[in-house]
Amino acid sequence: MISIKEIDQKKIELCYELDSSTICLWSKKQWQSEFNRRGVKVVSLLFDRKIIGIYVVQTILDEAQINYFSIKKNFRRKGYGSYLMRYLIKECKKLNIKRLILEVSETNSIAETFYFKFNFLTVGTRKNYYRDGSDAVLKEKKL
Ligand SMILES: CC(C)(COP(=O)(O)OP(=O)(O)OC[C@H]1O[C@@H](n2cnc3c(N)ncnc32)[C@H](O)[C@@H]1OP(=O)(O)O)[C@@H](O)C(=O)NCCC(=O)NCCS
Repeated sequence: MISIKEIDQKKIELCYELDSSTICLWSKKQWQSEFNRRGVKVVSLLFDRKIIGIYVVQTILDEAQINYFSIKKNFRRKGYGSYLMRYLIKECKKLNIKRLILEVSETNSIAETFYFKFNFLTVGTRKNYYRDGSDAVLKEKKL
C-alpha cells in the first residue's frame, strides 16, 4: 500500500540511507542542516511502510524550491515519481505558492525528461555547479 508522510529529524537515518542508495547528494551533516533550515519540509513516499521516495521542499513566501527529489532505484519507471510530484504540486497550491523552482545537472537527462513532463521550464544555468564540473540547469514551474 502506498502512502505519503512528512518526516521529522528523528528519521534522518532513513533519509540518509535512501540518498546513499540513490543519488548520494548529501552527507548526514547536510541532511541535518536541511532539517534545520527555515521553511523546509521533508516528505516521504511509503510502500508497505518502507520509504521508497523522498522530497525536500523549502518555502519562502510564495515561492518553493525543490532541494531534493528521489525515488529508490527498484521502484523507478512505475509512476511513483509522478505520484509524489503531483502530491508536492497539490500541497504547494494549497499554500498559495506561485512558483516552484529547482536545479538539476545538465547530465541528468532522465530528470530533465521527468520535469519537462510536469511543465518545468529552463530559466537559467549555473556554470560548473557540481563537483564533476557539470552545469546546473535552473527550472521553474508557475502554479
Ligand atoms: C527522476 C525520477 C524521480 C523519476 O521517478 P520515476 O518514479 O521513475 O518517474 P515516473 O515513473 O513517474 O516517470 C514519469 C516520467 O518521467 C520520465 N522518465 C522517468 N524515467 C525515465 C527514464 N529512465 N528514461 C526516460 N524518461 C524517464 C518519463 O517521461 C516518464 O513518463 P512516462 O512513463 O509516461 O514515459 C527518478 O528517476 C529518480 O529518482 N532519479 C534519481 C534522482 C534524481 O535525478 N532526481 C532529480 C534531480 S534532483
